[in-house]
Order: sequence, then structure tokens, then C-alpha cells
Amino acid sequence: MGPPDRGLQPARGDQAMTPTPITLTVNGEQRTFTGDPASSLLRFLRDQCGDTTTKDGCSPQAACGACAVELNGKVVLSCVIPMKKVAGGNVTTPAGLDQTPVGEALTDAFAARGGAQCAFCIPGIAVRAANLIKSNPDPSEQDIRLALNQHLCRCTGYQKIIESIQTAAESLRTGNPVPRPDQSARVGARREKYNIRPAILGKRPYV
Ligand code: FES
Ligand code: FES
Repeated sequence: MGPPDRGLQPARGDQAMTPTPITLTVNGEQRTFTGDPASSLLRFLRDQCGDTTTKDGCSPQAACGACAVELNGKVVLSCVIPMKKVAGGNVTTPAGLDQTPVGEALTDAFAARGGAQCAFCIPGIAVRAANLIKSNPDPSEQDIRLALNQHLCRCTGYQKIIESIQTAAESLRTGNPVPRPDQSARVGARREKYNIRPAILGKRPYV
């Protein structure tokens, strides 16, 4: 007698395991992920949630800070956070700061102070700054430099970024709006950089 005919039934162990769904909250919306639990939070945000406000500068090297998001109240580099670590988590991306008081203050301050040049690094820095201001409403230059130690900016030399974060913090503390730069066309006027505002929280798409 030959071996029993198993027909089309796969042998035990042949069947691909269906990944357990992972649920999390992204910017207040519940999301479900069913792919490889070792894949990164950054890939999930950009490829599955379509949230390109979280930038990919070096993934998965954790070397530039462009992919920073807040996870359960702490800033993390999403390119090295596997999905299995975010089950039940609460994530805020740069898009989640849009139309919030801190997001608006940071946008006004970076635009007014010239803190964003190409702005590729700024959305991640905005997430970091918002998190810092929450626990430290009046951060010193040293506090900000320490907070930014995982962030690279190739354009600004950091000083204008620091001034922008302090300006945003002051506006939030005092309730006074960030002063707008001189928008006149006179010679020597320091105008806001063209179309910089959408870039500050990452809404301007990059390749
Ligand atoms: S993309 Fe994550 S640190 Fe650069
Ligand atoms: S503004 Fe260009 S990398 Fe920071």
C-alpha cells in the first residue's frame, strides 16, 4: 500500500503562517498592519499609511533623524522600529502636528527665522521640538542642542534651527504670535523663503 493521498492539502508546516494583525494609532486614527512584523514603522507610515511627512534620509541606519516620530510620548527613529514593537502604540508623525498650536508656532517660527532651507530634515526636527517643548516650555540653547543630537542638517548650521525652536517656545508661552518678517520688496528686506511653510511639517513631497 502506497502513502496516503493528501490531494491538494499542504503538509503540516508547509502552509505559510498568516501574520497576526498589529493595531496601532497614527495621528489619532486606528490602523492595522498585517505584513512582516520585522519591517519598519517608517515603511508602514510611508508605504501603507501614505504619510510622507515622515522622511527617509538613511534608513535603516538611524543616522540622520529625518524619520523621527513620537511613539507613546517618546521620540524614536522610525526606520529602526520594527512593527512588532508598536502593537497598541500611539504614534504622532509631523502630519499629526498640523493645525495644532505647537505645529503652527513651529511653522511660523521656522519660516520667520530662516530655520528651514531645503527643509528635508525639518519635519523630524519639528517632532523632536514639539516633544521637547511639552516637557520644557523654555528650552535653553544647550537643551535644544542636546535634544537635536540625533538630527543631521546639511544646510543651516543649526543656529537658526535653535533660534526657531526658541521663538516657537516663546510664542507658546506668552500667547503672542511669532512676528512675521518684513514682506516688502525693498532692498535688504529679509523675506520668508518662497513656499517654505508646507515643507516645515513635511507636506511638500520629496522623491
Ligand atoms: S531615516 Fe531614520 S535616522 Fe535617517
Ligand atoms: S534644511 Fe536642508 S538638511 Fe536641514
